Amino acid sequence: MTKPKVFITRAIPDQGLDILNESCDTEVWPKELPPNRNELLKNVTGMEGLLSLLTDKMDAELMDAAGDQLKVISNFAVGYDNIDISAATKRGILVTNTPGVLTETTADLAFALLMSAARRIVEGMDYVRSGHWQVWEPKLLLGNDIHQKTLGIIGLGRIGRAVARRASGFNMKVLYYNHTGRNKKDEEVGALYCDTIDEVLKNSDFISLHVPLSPETHHLIDSPAFSKMKKTAILINTSRGSVVNSDALHKALDKGEIAYAALDVTDPEPLPGDHKLLKLPNCLVVPHIGSATVATRGLMAVMAAENLLTGLRGEVPKYLVNREVVNRI
Ligand code: NAP
Ligand code: GLV
Repeated sequence: MTKPKVFITRAIPDQGLDILNESCDTEVWPKELPPNRNELLKNVTGMEGLLSLLTDKMDAELMDAAGDQLKVISNFAVGYDNIDISAATKRGILVTNTPGVLTETTADLAFALLMSAARRIVEGMDYVRSGHWQVWEPKLLLGNDIHQKTLGIIGLGRIGRAVARRASGFNMKVLYYNHTGRNKKDEEVGALYCDTIDEVLKNSDFISLHVPLSPETHHLIDSPAFSKMKKTAILINTSRGSVVNSDALHKALDKGEIAYAALDVTDPEPLPGDHKLLKLPNCLVVPHIGSATVATRGLMAVMAAENLLTGLRGEVPKYLVNREVVNRI
């Protein structure tokens, strides 16, 4: 029996590759840098399954370039804003993602960013490394307390709730806003619902973003939002870069409208080394490493591989994003 042809857009951890190699004719993009658009369009041709990364744009043009035999696009991420879901559904293509396995790891990073920003960890390291540390000083690198402060969470889903649980260990008050109203699971994590996003922005010392990127959340945090935040507010973004307007963020940090930002995700992404945000002393940036632990990336690889295989067998994958496609295949 011929094995289904599968293209994996970049090397993923072996746990996932091994599963696919057993029952598929797999091709893995061999280079460290991703395929450019033309290379991607060429490599998907004739494939029945694609294992994509969040940086790969999977749109109608690409689906057509792949051909009618394309059955499944398995994204190696929980976010799937890189995929045109309606184009996939229209073509009967199953789209899957990797929810849950990365929740706690990503929440760990959001909390690490929160703590690093509050206690000026990176500035401290720079200070020591540059040889400026001469003596203990009463007013050196004064930061902000975390305990008993207020954390505002925008988007109380899986990761938002995991961040709220961490905050409760620090005796923080947790406020949240969710576009579909009060979340039934908020009591589990001691979070208080606010009717408007403004209420969260006005009353929080820390604001952590956990919404998916969508037309509704694009630039959700823009100049009007910054003007509502406390001057001492610290913004943490581990969702998607363009949930925040980078120019407005730069202005808010530069003019002291807010105190600090700690970002795992940026717009543009990657952020060029000479970007104006990196010239600010009150902006911490890490390169989209929210789920980047050995264990979690291994689990994501297995989940993405299993999603792909299930779809290729003609079954409904457990982590299907476009449920409505089931009636079309
Ligand atoms: P999730 O469980 O679906 O949570 C998202 C939450 O946001 C849901 O509660 C959703 O509410 C809410 N929401 C959606 N649109 C909103 C809006 N306009 N205003 C307020 N709330 C809104 O997803 P998750 O697993 O927590 O992941 C969240 C996002 O984090 C992903 O989509 C991805 O972009 C990002 N992420 C980043 C990393 C990283 O490495 N930095 C890692 C993992 C995930 P409803 O359910 O009511 O729609
Ligand atoms: C990472 O950003 C993800 O969406 O999994």
